[in-house]
Amino acid sequence: MAPIDPHSFTDSTHPLTTHIALTLYFHFSSSTIHATALLTLQNPCTGPLSLDTRSLVIHKILDPETLTPLPFTLSSSEHPINGRHLTVSLDNHSSILILYSTSPSSSALQWLSPPQTFKKIHPFVYTQCQSVHARSVFPCQDTPAARVCYSAKLNVPRQLSAVMSARHCGHRDPVGSDLDGVLTKEATEFGLDLKSLWCEEGRVVEEFVMEQPIPPYLFAFAVGELGFREVGPRTRVYSEAVDGVLDAAAREFAGTEEMMRQAEGLFGEYDWERFDLLVLPPSFPYGGMENPRMVFLTPTVIKGDASGAQVVAHELAHSWTGNLITNKNNEHFWLNEGFTTYAERRIVEVVQGEDIAALNVGIGWRGLKEEMERFKDNMEFTKLKNNQEGVNPDDMYSQVPYEKGFQFLWRIERQIGRPAFDEFLKKYIATFKFKSIDTETFLDFLKANIPGIEKEIDLQQWTEGTGIPPDAQEPVSNLYTKIMSLANDFKLGRMPREDEVCDWKGQEWELYLENLSKAVEASQVIALDARYRLSESKDYEVKVAFLQLAISSRCRDYYGEVEKTLKEVGRMKYLRPLYSGLVQGAGKDEEKILAKRVFAEARECYHPIAQGVVEAILAKHV
Ligand code: BES
Ligand code: ZN
Repeated sequence: MAPIDPHSFTDSTHPLTTHIALTLYFHFSSSTIHATALLTLQNPCTGPLSLDTRSLVIHKILDPETLTPLPFTLSSSEHPINGRHLTVSLDNHSSILILYSTSPSSSALQWLSPPQTFKKIHPFVYTQCQSVHARSVFPCQDTPAARVCYSAKLNVPRQLSAVMSARHCGHRDPVGSDLDGVLTKEATEFGLDLKSLWCEEGRVVEEFVMEQPIPPYLFAFAVGELGFREVGPRTRVYSEAVDGVLDAAAREFAGTEEMMRQAEGLFGEYDWERFDLLVLPPSFPYGGMENPRMVFLTPTVIKGDASGAQVVAHELAHSWTGNLITNKNNEHFWLNEGFTTYAERRIVEVVQGEDIAALNVGIGWRGLKEEMERFKDNMEFTKLKNNQEGVNPDDMYSQVPYEKGFQFLWRIERQIGRPAFDEFLKKYIATFKFKSIDTETFLDFLKANIPGIEKEIDLQQWTEGTGIPPDAQEPVSNLYTKIMSLANDFKLGRMPREDEVCDWKGQEWELYLENLSKAVEASQVIALDARYRLSESKDYEVKVAFLQLAISSRCRDYYGEVEKTLKEVGRMKYLRPLYSGLVQGAGKDEEKILAKRVFAEARECYHPIAQGVVEAILAKHV
């Protein structure tokens, strides 16, 4: 066994999968998908083939040509991070057909019952596969080193429709031949008659193809009562079919095409044809997820002032850095997020101006310093390239790959100048597109293209060292400096005057609040809120930054608002600091009881990944 990824059972001596064809029958009342997966391998294989699975029931594995069963074993216990190892015995096979079902606990899938949706009439289901959850939707070599093309037929109730990270190529009645290759007899032995379920009245089939090879974590779908608005020549925004939500989203993201043009100028042509956006229910665990052709977004980015564009800029930037060039495994995650954060800020700089870009750099800088504090007993996680053996990527998610990665690239830009760095970036993307690479590959390319760079910048310290290198830098901007000095004044008891904050939007307040000393008096927190109503902000970045301050100063007046927030959103960027704030530290019995109760009540509404992350926070401190 030669592993290539600490988070996968994929064996480097086995051929990789190149194509996956899926048929997925959605059974909403049991929160289950009954499915078949046809995996095509790079070349014929004899002997064992290792695949990743989690929470899947494997009914049968067949030779797709003869439909004879192939022997397989599934490890008896589930590895807490990596799931279950599926081994299939092959005899010169270059493809295999797997008949399986997901289970209600499949970690990528959130099944929402009608009452959990906006319109409350139909159910909704969606995936979140990054980093290690694609294996809970279909068996695969779930490592970004194994890029696959895919096709999928989704059989869903007629009132619903589906979107995917792929080209949509059909919405039609189901036909028996959709399941060709799966004999009726075999299907019956499945434990249920898939063929007759498939062709039942009241169902519809949605077909998709993804012809460009993607890492499995970019596989995505959502099924529900969906509607859309056109917002640009290559962009529609989708969400649950509620006029108010669709209209607000269309306004918020009206500038998307402009951002795409700017991004193309910086990084080269957009390679994925369409750039559609899907606004998910509030339980979506991230701000955004860069699923190709169909970015997934939290509804919390719709704030009515187009500031949600920053998250779109980020996910758009992944179209080059992350989706075209992908980290080989999660130990090189900074190649995805560091480059994307850099690229996002370049886009923001053109469309929103240098001051806003500098604010974002400043918010990131603060976040990076906080991570250094958080990881002071585990400095491994402050390295760009780090050892993730036995590490759950969901639990150790941090700003380090984003912000230290950004700082590293910004440092290189300062060294060689922007024009040379821009040229380098374009060449880097053109050279490695559709490849999964590691830190060494990037460094070799850097040294080959910028001769002598290693004499100017300590590349090893940046990529393998702990902490923040001395040549990292805070942003330079008048607005940034002004806000930082106002934040400093708060310690001395001075609150900003109305005329100083009259044109502040969310990001200004966020930077201000995050830079206030954590140990301020409860009375000061109350006074600040009385004047500026931050606890009522519709911008969750501001509201949560304020509530964090309220928790750290033990200001009980706001615990009701904290509870309400934890029950209305499932974005982990908000859950993490609020739950951690409540349970961390000594003498916090009251807060711990509150956190436990709120989690017990809100848990069902969170995505399984968020449930796991909150559980880990509580387990550590309660
Ligand atoms: N790819 C990430 C989200 C992610 C990271 C999912 C790790 C699973 C594991 C996405 O591109 C991201 O970084 N989202 C940010 C957006 C922000 C930086 C603008 C988020 O969700 O907050
Ligand atoms: Zn990202």
